[in-house]
Amino acid sequence: MIYLDYAATSLKRVELLKYTIENIEDFDANPDSIHKLGRKSKKVLEDSRKEIADFLHTTTDKIIFTSGASESNNYIVNNFSNEDYEVITSKIEHPSVLNSLSHSKSNVIYADCEKNGVVNFDKIVEKITDKTRLVILQHVNNETGAIMPVKKLGEYLKDKDIWYHVDATQSVGHLDVNVEEIHCDSLSFSGHKLGGINGFGVLFLKKNLHNLIYGGEQEDYRRGGTSFVMGAYTLAKSLQKSVDERDYIKNMKKLFLDNIKFDYDVNGSVENSADHILNLYIPFEKNDFLLTYLDMHGICVSAGSACSAGSITNSHVITNMYDEKRAEHSLRFSFGYGNTKEDILKCTSVLNDFYEKNKGKI
Ligand SMILES: Cc1ncc(COP(=O)(O)O)c(C=O)c1O
Repeated sequence: MIYLDYAATSLKRVELLKYTIENIEDFDANPDSIHKLGRKSKKVLEDSRKEIADFLHTTTDKIIFTSGASESNNYIVNNFSNEDYEVITSKIEHPSVLNSLSHSKSNVIYADCEKNGVVNFDKIVEKITDKTRLVILQHVNNETGAIMPVKKLGEYLKDKDIWYHVDATQSVGHLDVNVEEIHCDSLSFSGHKLGGINGFGVLFLKKNLHNLIYGGEQEDYRRGGTSFVMGAYTLAKSLQKSVDERDYIKNMKKLFLDNIKFDYDVNGSVENSADHILNLYIPFEKNDFLLTYLDMHGICVSAGSACSAGSITNSHVITNMYDEKRAEHSLRFSFGYGNTKEDILKCTSVLNDFYEKNKGKI
């Protein structure tokens, strides 16, 4: 199989999984148990927290481990659910933001994005009123890779009494993410987007809010539940690897674009996007057909965010940038450390051949 769906989830890093199995004594016990095995797990958990905190340029007390970015995003939304509050976000956020906001008691105000896939700084700022308590913006869009002005917005919000949450699920590892420079109050991401195990996430929290999960004393009383040591370890060890792989992934994207031999358009811009994501408008065929066709050739891609896969609903992101028709003809290719030059050339040649065989009928 050729896997070009890294933005949905990265293929797992087998060497890290092997390490955890071969050294299972370090991961096996409950880190809150006071016996020797518990202490071993605790050490791995806390060493991982330190690596993650350093990577984000913050301290360990501000790092909470969660089950993923969805939980982290829901938590922030739920903490600011109040009839008297206004919340500002964009129409192209991930469903874990948009769908949780649809249950919020707050008045939610949505900003459109521009044709280039970016949510304009001014479009957010002009919506702020004295009732605004929360602003949520993603760092990188999961469908187009478009990079948002999160630093500029943070600079603007830093002295205001407004909580600023950044969803960095598609940027951590791919771009430099420094929470001090972004001036965010909270930031979320998941380990599995970088090669860590699924079901583990991080919430950077500058100041404590209400508890995420009431339970034991884990996460300094802020989120109860037995800790996921392997999740923490596999994420922490994937961070620097992701930085080292950036040039390689950038070249994969370039190779892909250099080898397409039919008319297409990039949704967004190659310049202002994270290198692992490429979203193409392919005028000659609808995405549901192309997705199935590529799958029959052993190639995995997506038409939108994985959370709506299975039913191929048209992307709310491409629809907001353009329209429904363009969304029906758009596919996301996303690259990662496991891709080879041959993978990329196979995918482009399957698409080119399909176009050549069918162009008379199109
Ligand atoms: C931008 C963004 N936010 C949040 C999430 C949710 O992450 P998870 O499914 O790991 O909770 C995703 C996953 O696709 C994402 O891309």
